Amino acid sequence: MEASTRMSGALRVESVSLTFGGVRALSGVSFEAAEGAITAVIGPNGAGKTSLFNAISGFYRPNTGCILFDGKDITALRPPARAKLGLARTFQNIALFRGMTVLDNIKLGRHAHLRTNVFDALLYWGRAQREEIELRRDVEERIIDFLEIQHIRNAPVGSLSYGLQKRVELARALAMRPRLLMLDEPVAGMNREETEDMARFILDVKEEWGVTILMVEHDMGMVMDISDHVVVLNFGQVIAEGLPGEVQQNPTVVSAYLGSGDVGELSRRLRVKEAA
Ligand SMILES: Nc1ncnc2c1ncn2[C@@H]1O[C@H](COP(=O)(O)OP(=O)(O)OP(=O)(O)O)[C@@H](O)[C@H]1O
Ligand SMILES: [Mg+2]
Repeated sequence: MEASTRMSGALRVESVSLTFGGVRALSGVSFEAAEGAITAVIGPNGAGKTSLFNAISGFYRPNTGCILFDGKDITALRPPARAKLGLARTFQNIALFRGMTVLDNIKLGRHAHLRTNVFDALLYWGRAQREEIELRRDVEERIIDFLEIQHIRNAPVGSLSYGLQKRVELARALAMRPRLLMLDEPVAGMNREETEDMARFILDVKEEWGVTILMVEHDMGMVMDISDHVVVLNFGQVIAEGLPGEVQQNPTVVSAYLGSGDVGELSRRLRVKEAA
């Protein structure tokens, strides 16, 4: 009983609409990302996936509708306040400080939880602050270990392969100790091996850390392999949702991809997994 009513880490998007000038990016979008599950948002280019992420993390304010996290209405909160509640994200285009080391980039993730005002600063002064620093170091080490990036901890991010940079971005998001982790195209531009590594890390984050995950991804093989629930957007609307297998065979979903002119990509994106 307790667990189902607490909804810790669960996200609910309710009738969210968002327009940019004349462009309607989102139109009455509703869905839920269940606690401790991986929910994938898919859809053709321009469907509104990144706009949806920006609305959830607070960069854009919906024109109508609301966003509930952990049962609490967060629609009016600014991004730092949402981050404090446990929302963390990565970006479609890597947003790291290229001249800084891997470790320093990860440390920046913790800023969401650092002092935001004088009272906090005073409260944390002294012993509490030392404890906080130790705890932080512990978390950073755990993340570095977990993502197998010990060997590059002191390397400048700009010198790393694309796949490793994406892994560092994930590390930084984890350093925020999120309860809801939002990943915008975590394996875009990766080769097969990098994709498989990242898919395994995402599954491990869910299983070992119990983090709720919301992910936008074009790589359908990866989506079908690791998602618990799939939400399909097209022209800013939810056109289907369900288990990966259900969505994959939904004719409306197939024709949305066909209609997008992405026929060349279709077989890759909607490939029905061959019997192993
Ligand atoms: N800041 C903005 N100003 C104006 N229009 C925008 C803005 N952001 C997005 N849009 C428009 O909103 C629509 C949805 O874009 P969005 O980036 O959310 O799509 P997407 O599903 O993430 O696409 P992709 O798969 O290419 O990343 C598009 O028509 C886009 O041009
Ligand atoms: Mg996008």
